[in-house]
Amino acid sequence: MASFALGWCEADGTPVTGGGGKGVRQALAVLGAEAVGAAGDEGVVAAVAVELVHTFSLTHDDVMDGDERRRHRESAWRAYGTGPAVLAGDALFALAVETLARHGGGHTGAAVARLAGSLRELVRGQADDLLFEERPWTGAAAVRPAEYEAMAAGKTGSLLACALTLGPVLADAPPPVVEALGEAGRQLGAAFQAVDDLLGIWGDPGTTGKPVHGDLVRGKKTFPVLAALAADGPAARELAALLSPGIPLDAVSARRAAGLVEAAGGRNAALAEARSRVAAARECLYGVPLAPRTVDELVALTGFLVDRRL
Ligand code: IPE
Ligand code: MG
Ligand code: MG
Repeated sequence: MASFALGWCEADGTPVTGGGGKGVRQALAVLGAEAVGAAGDEGVVAAVAVELVHTFSLTHDDVMDGDERRRHRESAWRAYGTGPAVLAGDALFALAVETLARHGGGHTGAAVARLAGSLRELVRGQADDLLFEERPWTGAAAVRPAEYEAMAAGKTGSLLACALTLGPVLADAPPPVVEALGEAGRQLGAAFQAVDDLLGIWGDPGTTGKPVHGDLVRGKKTFPVLAALAADGPAARELAALLSPGIPLDAVSARRAAGLVEAAGGRNAALAEARSRVAAARECLYGVPLAPRTVDELVALTGFLVDRRL
C-alpha cells in the first residue's frame, strides 16, 4: 500500500514507472541543502523524510476530503479501504521519522523536532480546513481572509518550509539563513495552495490526475471562491445567492458556481496571489547569503509553481 501511495506500483502490486507526484518538495529539500553548501547527504535525507510525510498526508487527506482519485489513479482508500489506507499513511509517517532519526550527525534531534513541529502545524491546518467546510460562505460567521491564510499556511506552507530548511538544519546552517529559507517556504506554500485551489476548479483532470469541483461540492473554503465573494458586482452577488443557503451543490450548480467565481474575478485573484507570494519568496532568498547558482534553480522552480497545470 505504501508503494502504491508513492506511485511505485498498481494496487495489486504490479510495478509501474513514472507514477509519482511532481517532486516539488524533494527538489526544494535538495536545493535547500545545496544552497547552504551542505557537503554530505543532508539534502537527500531531508528529501526522503519530507516526501514520506507528504505522501502520508495525502493518503489521509483523500480520506478526509472523500476524493476518489489522486495522481491519475484511485486514491489509496478507494483501492484498499479506509482502515488500511489510514494504516499505510501511519507507516509512511513512521518511515519518515525513522529515516531522519537514523541520520548520524550532531543535528539530527533538531531536524526531527523540525519535522514533527511542521507536521503539528500541518495537522492544525487540516483541522481548520475541515472545520471551514461547516462554516457559511457569507455573513458574520463566514471564513475571513486571515483565517484562510492561516489554514493554508498550516496545511501546505508548513511542509514546504520544512522541505527548504531540513537539510540546512542537518548541516548546521546559521539560524538567520534557516529562518529566511523557512519564510520563503511558507510564501511558496501560500502560492502553491492558491494554484491548487484554482486547479481544483479549472484544472484538467486528465492532467492533474485529480477530480474538479469536489471542493465546491463539499463547501471547502478555497481562495478563488472567497476572493470572488469579496468582490462587488452582479456575478459576486449571484454567487453569494447560490452558495448562501448552504445546501450541497449538485454537479450542475457546481459548474454554474465555477463560472460565477471566474466572472467575479476569483480565478485572476488566485493567480495574482500566487504571483505576489512567489515574489515575496524570492525576496527572502535574495536577502541572505546562499549559493547563487542554487538560488537561480530555486527561482526557476518558483516560476513553475505558478504556471503549472498539474
Ligand atoms: C492537502 O490539501 C494538504 C495536505 C495533504 C496536508 P488539499 O486537500 O487542498 O490538496 P489536494 O487538492 O487534495 O491535493
Ligand atoms: Mg484534498
Ligand atoms: Mg484536503
